[in-house]
Amino acid sequence: MDYNELLELAKSRRSIRRFKPDPIPEQEINKVIEVARWAPSGFNMQPWEFVVVRKKELREKIAEAVNVYFKHAPEMEKAREPWQGRPWKLSGMTDTKGDFTEAPVYILLFGDPRTQAGLPMGVRYEYHRKQIIHTSGLAHAFVYMTLAATALGLAAQWISSVQTAYAHTVIKKLLDIPPALEVYDMLALGYPAIKPSEKFIRDLEEMVHYDDCGQEDFRSDEQVKDFVKKARSWNIGVHQRGGEKK
Ligand SMILES: Cc1cc2nc3c(=O)[nH]c(=O)nc-3n(C[C@H](O)[C@H](O)[C@H](O)COP(=O)(O)O)c2cc1C
Repeated sequence: MDYNELLELAKSRRSIRRFKPDPIPEQEINKVIEVARWAPSGFNMQPWEFVVVRKKELREKIAEAVNVYFKHAPEMEKAREPWQGRPWKLSGMTDTKGDFTEAPVYILLFGDPRTQAGLPMGVRYEYHRKQIIHTSGLAHAFVYMTLAATALGLAAQWISSVQTAYAHTVIKKLLDIPPALEVYDMLALGYPAIKPSEKFIRDLEEMVHYDDCGQEDFRSDEQVKDFVKKARSWNIGVHQRGGEKK
């Protein structure tokens, strides 16, 4: 693969939140996970387990548990600072279905903190670093899955609301997951029903700094606030519209 192909893959990996209900062949699902198997992890502890959920009744129960968060979200949004603009409105907040409810496959990524016993002792008892190393490994495996999904022409949506205490507990019980494992995030996977709309992205020059560049080379508080407002508005838009019809 040359650089341009890699860049193209990075650019075309997008969150797609509208799915066709068509099932995904098992070989394709395994291909997504096969790429993630090669992800780097701190001290190569490979702290992950992948649980593929295809059964409709299980997916519905998972979605129900995740959507509990969305029921409370409008109330929580009222506490936002006024400069942040309009409140978040995700589809799960306005009706009983989140975007991902139509996806035919969910892949839950679980972390296994028992693997932390393999870390050097100097890391193992540095609580913050140990946690970061564990979570970063899981994040890499997750991103690798999203890249594989893109290469296979699949739509993928990253669902972090499985991390709420309620969803986490319900999912573990529902799928009978061993007590030691902890849910990291969930990937909703399917065939895309839409094309993602153009991405709102910061310029390279603005985010790269060389050597002793000085504080003035970085964004001011006002500039960050302005960016946050715009990014928030863009994100609310893509959640609501999803993208362009295919
Ligand atoms: C750590 C993390 C958590 C995310 N959680 C969610 C989520 O719960 N629901 C969702 O629809 N998208 C989620 N996303 C996707 C981001 O919203 C998305 O990547 C971002 O808006 C940029 O859009 P793009 O993926 O199309 O490039 C998450 C992404 C990351 C990296």
